[in-house]
Amino acid sequence: MHLVIINGAARPQSRSNTAKIIAAFRMGYEESGSTSEVWHLSDRAQWAGAAQAFAASDNILIALPLYVENVPGILLEFLAGLEPKTTPGTQIAFLVQGGFPEASQSRCCEKYLEKLPELLGCAYAGTLIKGDMFGLRLMDEKEGQELLRPFTRMGRHFADTHRFEKETVAAFAGPEYLSAKECRMFRLFGRPVQRLFMGRMAKKLGCTGPLDARPYSTGN
Ligand SMILES: Cc1cc2nc3c(=O)[nH]c(=O)nc-3n(C[C@H](O)[C@H](O)[C@H](O)COP(=O)(O)O)c2cc1C
Repeated sequence: MHLVIINGAARPQSRSNTAKIIAAFRMGYEESGSTSEVWHLSDRAQWAGAAQAFAASDNILIALPLYVENVPGILLEFLAGLEPKTTPGTQIAFLVQGGFPEASQSRCCEKYLEKLPELLGCAYAGTLIKGDMFGLRLMDEKEGQELLRPFTRMGRHFADTHRFEKETVAAFAGPEYLSAKECRMFRLFGRPVQRLFMGRMAKKLGCTGPLDARPYSTGN
C-alpha cells in the first residue's frame, strides 16, 4: 500500500529530527514491498505538491515535532489551505515526537489530532507518540541509530495494520510521567550536566548572556 508522509516540522530537512525519524519509519514500512513518498513543509516549494498528494491519496501519515505542547504553526498554516475531502475512504495517522521525555507532554496535541481528520473529511488512524528526541540531531550515527530503531519497527507494524492502535502506542510512548525518584535523580545529576551542555550550545549559537536571564523581571 502506498503511504503519503507529510513532515510538519519547521526546521529544514537536513536539520530536522522529524525527517530522521521519518526516514527510519520508511525503512520498516517499505521492507515488505509497500511504498511511500515524503513532503517536507519546511520547504514551501513543496506545499503545492504536498496538497496534491493529500488530495490524491487515501493513506496519509502526518509526522510532526511537538512545539509549545502542540502542532507547529507551519503545519497549521498548510492544513488551513487544504480542501476537505468530500468522499469517504481516506485515513490519516499521526506521528508526534517531542523533546521532553514524558508522553503526557503530547496528550493535549493528541486530543487535537483526534479531531483533525474529521475536519478534513477523513478518518482518524491513531497517533504514535515519542518523547526524549531533542538530542537526536546532535548524536553521532551509532547513537542516533539506537534511538531510531524503534521507529523502523513501528514502520513495519504500520505496513501490516495501517493503524496506530491505542495499546501498541501506549507501550511505545512510555513513560507517561517520570517517577518521583527519576525527578530527584535528574535534579541532582541531570540538571548540572544539562546546564553545561545547553550553555555550550548557546555559546556556539552566539549567545553572550546567561541562559536564565530575566530582563523583564519586576523582581516579584
Ligand atoms: C519552538 C519549539 C518549541 C518546542 N516545544 C516543545 C514542547 O512543548 N514539548 C516538548 O516535548 N518538546 C518541545 N520542543 C522540542 C522539539 O519537539 C524536539 O526537539 C523535536 O525533536 C524537534 O524536531 P525537529 O528537529 O523536526 O523540529 C520544542 C522545540 C522548539 C524549537
